[in-house]
Amino acid sequence: ATYELTVSAPNIEDRSFTKPLLCGPGPCDLWPSVSEALAKPVITPLCDEHYNVIDDIRAGLQYIFQTRNKLVYAVSGSGHSGMETIISNLLGPNEVLLIASRGIWDQRANIIANRYGIKTIIISAPFNTTFSHDTLEVALNKHKPTALFITHGDSSTGTVQNLKGLGEICHRHGAFLLVDTVVSLVGEPFFMDDWGVDAVYTSTQKALSGPAGISPVAFSQFAADKINNRKHEPPFYFDAKLLAQQWNCYGNTRQYHHTLSLPLLWALRQCLREVAKETLPKSWARHAATTAHFHRRIQQMSLQFLVPKPEDRLATVTTIVLPNGYDYVKFYKYIRDKYNILIFAGLGPTVGKALRIGLMGVNSTIEVADAVADAMMGALKVKSLL
Ligand code: GLV
Repeated sequence: ATYELTVSAPNIEDRSFTKPLLCGPGPCDLWPSVSEALAKPVITPLCDEHYNVIDDIRAGLQYIFQTRNKLVYAVSGSGHSGMETIISNLLGPNEVLLIASRGIWDQRANIIANRYGIKTIIISAPFNTTFSHDTLEVALNKHKPTALFITHGDSSTGTVQNLKGLGEICHRHGAFLLVDTVVSLVGEPFFMDDWGVDAVYTSTQKALSGPAGISPVAFSQFAADKINNRKHEPPFYFDAKLLAQQWNCYGNTRQYHHTLSLPLLWALRQCLREVAKETLPKSWARHAATTAHFHRRIQQMSLQFLVPKPEDRLATVTTIVLPNGYDYVKFYKYIRDKYNILIFAGLGPTVGKALRIGLMGVNSTIEVADAVADAMMGALKVKSLL
């Protein structure tokens, strides 16, 4: 047959490009073993090997979240899908979400919650600081929310929030604790069960050194009970009750929900194998040591950190203030062009105020930290960047 096409075939060229070293706030470079895992064969959702992959991933996720909870799986989508999953499953229209805001991600939580008719109350801290538990408790007591949302690591500001003991405070006020660990997990200590976290999500393209597109989530038993008894329906695609069946969270179901991306499952499984091989304490120590070394180099250059208190500084992303007159965008582009290293400028509240440098996952090494510091020293000598 002959067909009259209204759109002709495009000429899609196979362009080559030189991959930069990824030292921005994410995505990070992949573990070589993860690149290999992406090329493993695709299998159908209803066969034993697929079930095994899912079971392996759930065990790995319980390890990285440090949780014995059962409702643990990965959402098909980038980090935002994890955010949307925990908010839409735990809160329904007219319930109140208290948002502790210091960066861009909590603002996203606000936008998402509002789309579900959830009422939000925002309390803010200056973007280069974190919240005291007393401040959070006063707000919990005043607003009596269904849940508190807070980011652990914030890639837009380079801060890390102390969460130890926060779950107990939330529970005392009848609230769930919802946490974003996209840029902190595996790079910073995190203990879901010990800290009383009720819902948490992370992403694969940061300290896990995997590809974006699949987002681990975990719920406490307290949260799972609410989900099982809730009155509202979240979006079908993000429904934790249905996905618990697909992911065999309770050990008795292999229900089909949607077709998971096998390459991403293989990749996530391999990221988790890398963490299990290294172990979490060693991974946390490596990230802390690399960043401490990088910070010493930054101090030798007499540059300022955006985050004044050392204990608030995130191990995976450092925010740096350039001397007066430097253009942040020109500066990071120069480093990309001259050294083939990709760092990044500010985002959200830090636009025009800081550079953001990510040393995480496979790139959390002294060699990479030195390469970035050397490139910055070179760029600081270039007067045209002023
Ligand atoms: C993305 O996560 C960013 O921080 O730029």
